[in-house]
Amino acid sequence: MSDLIQLGARNERPRAPRADELELKFSPTAVEQLDALRTHYAEDKACILPGLWIAQREYGGYLEPAAIAEVAHRLGRSYAEVEGVATFYSMYNTAHTVGKHMIEVCTCLSCHVCGAYRIGDYLKQKLGVDFGETTADGVFTLHEVECLNACDRAPVLQVGDQYHGPVDTAYVDKLIEELRGSGSSTVVKLADEIVKVHLKDGQA
Ligand code: FES
Repeated sequence: MSDLIQLGARNERPRAPRADELELKFSPTAVEQLDALRTHYAEDKACILPGLWIAQREYGGYLEPAAIAEVAHRLGRSYAEVEGVATFYSMYNTAHTVGKHMIEVCTCLSCHVCGAYRIGDYLKQKLGVDFGETTADGVFTLHEVECLNACDRAPVLQVGDQYHGPVDTAYVDKLIEELRGSGSSTVVKLADEIVKVHLKDGQA
């Protein structure tokens, strides 16, 4: 078989759990939140996005197939539909497990001209990973992202629900040290904050 055909045939997506493999892991709070969100919309399909944020929090930051299956099960949607939504949006972590902290480096125009690639290279060297990779100790995931809509603070990093900018290498050193010393996951915190926004929006 030619390399081209092999590449075309390859499917990297993990297998969806069968119904008899389903293990529901949402906490009582998560179930309550999803139930509250369901009252905000005419149909459960509208809860897929906030449901995935709840799952991203409950499953520690990574939407493994079991997490997607749980959202599909609780909302009465198909696995394929929920997976299609989850893999469409880059803020859902579906490609691989992520670290406790995701450092997102904006490399769009304003950040680019203010040294974003220099900061990105510094982070790669300091953490020993490339963009899209997680450190061996599971603490940091490094990502390159498009404009974070904070161009006046270029070059900008996003970590969880916080923006940092303008940053230089000294700032990066301090930030990494602080994040290493923090007990909680900023990836999980971001998901939790977004769930709260969805809940609040529905009450407005
Ligand atoms: S270009 Fe980086 S925040 Fe807009």
